[in-house]
Amino acid sequence: MTRVLAIETSCDETSVAIVKNRQVLSNIVKSQINIHSFYGGVVPEVASRQHLETINQAIAQALIEADLDWPNIDGIAATCAPGLVGALLVGLTAAKTLAIVHNKPFVGVHHLEGHIYATYLSQPELKPPFLCLLVSGGHTSLIYVKDCGEYETLGQTRDDAAGEAFDKVARLLKLSYPGGPIIDKLAAEGNKLAFALPEGKISLPGGGYHPYDFSFSGLKTAVLRLVQKLEKEGSELLSESSVTRDIAASFQETVAKGLTKRAIACALDYGLNTIAIGGGVAANSGLRWHLSRAAESHNLQVLFPPLKLCTDNAAMIGCAAVDHLSRGHISSLNLGASSRMGIQDVMELYKFPLV
Ligand code: KG4
Ligand code: ZN
Repeated sequence: MTRVLAIETSCDETSVAIVKNRQVLSNIVKSQINIHSFYGGVVPEVASRQHLETINQAIAQALIEADLDWPNIDGIAATCAPGLVGALLVGLTAAKTLAIVHNKPFVGVHHLEGHIYATYLSQPELKPPFLCLLVSGGHTSLIYVKDCGEYETLGQTRDDAAGEAFDKVARLLKLSYPGGPIIDKLAAEGNKLAFALPEGKISLPGGGYHPYDFSFSGLKTAVLRLVQKLEKEGSELLSESSVTRDIAASFQETVAKGLTKRAIACALDYGLNTIAIGGGVAANSGLRWHLSRAAESHNLQVLFPPLKLCTDNAAMIGCAAVDHLSRGHISSLNLGASSRMGIQDVMELYKFPLV
């Protein structure tokens, strides 16, 4: 039995959790969305300051809710990459300090590996190999999960992340931030066939298209052109207007179908029977509908963890840390934060520097 206290501060959620193996004992998530929505997106400096203000309280609260004290904790973990460096440093420094003060091993965790581990929290019996479709505000990837620390990225976005596309299109439609949930809500009352929008495809040098890679910038530009055309024609684009609902529905349908097509093709080509979904866009009802239906018709299993585990949280970081810790993977206290680090390099986090 391994109990880890984990900290996640890679973006705009300050989160501290205590996880026992694959069981969540506490998971405190303090969202900064209200502060950032004022600016229409995450402001890195504001995020770091906000993490600093809330982290100590979140740590105390996580211990109280789990009804544990330091002697019961086996390790301290923190997200160290990828993410906003200033924001990551707050959680990383707090975790290292706690590790020194309480004489516990320190485990740095890759944020995307955390998103993969969210599925284990809701399906503790799940075993690799499986495919993870990771769709968040910062990432869109198809990851072949081979084992703890062993991952291969089979497909990824060449430009915007899926959540980023939802947020940018929401801004074009004069909706607030984050745009994903708002577009999802409006799409439910719109006509998804109202506008034909282009599915982003990545051309291959020898002809044809990349089967698993994504692109959302062309789709975003198509929505911009559509909005400009409709406004010129005198349409009123307000959040309550039916034309806004139709654009939201058509956009969501295009994204959901594109993600589903690639995820299913990838799972079938690699002989993987299970697709686990992670990241905030996993909440999207269009994606859930298309993916569930397509998976059923191909006899594949699709796993959607509960929403609070799909979006950024420290419980998923703790779950990954438990597996690493139980395999003797410990990080150096010299470990730094990195804004960009591929998931294939996860094991670099457990190499001690030569002294
Ligand atoms: O995983 P997450 O909480 O943070 C990142 O690591 O990025 O994902 C946040 C993203 C935002 O872009 C938000 O607009 C999107 O997830 N999102 C959604 C929905 N709920 C959140 N996108 C589409 N449909 C939703 N229902
Ligand atoms: Zn995330």
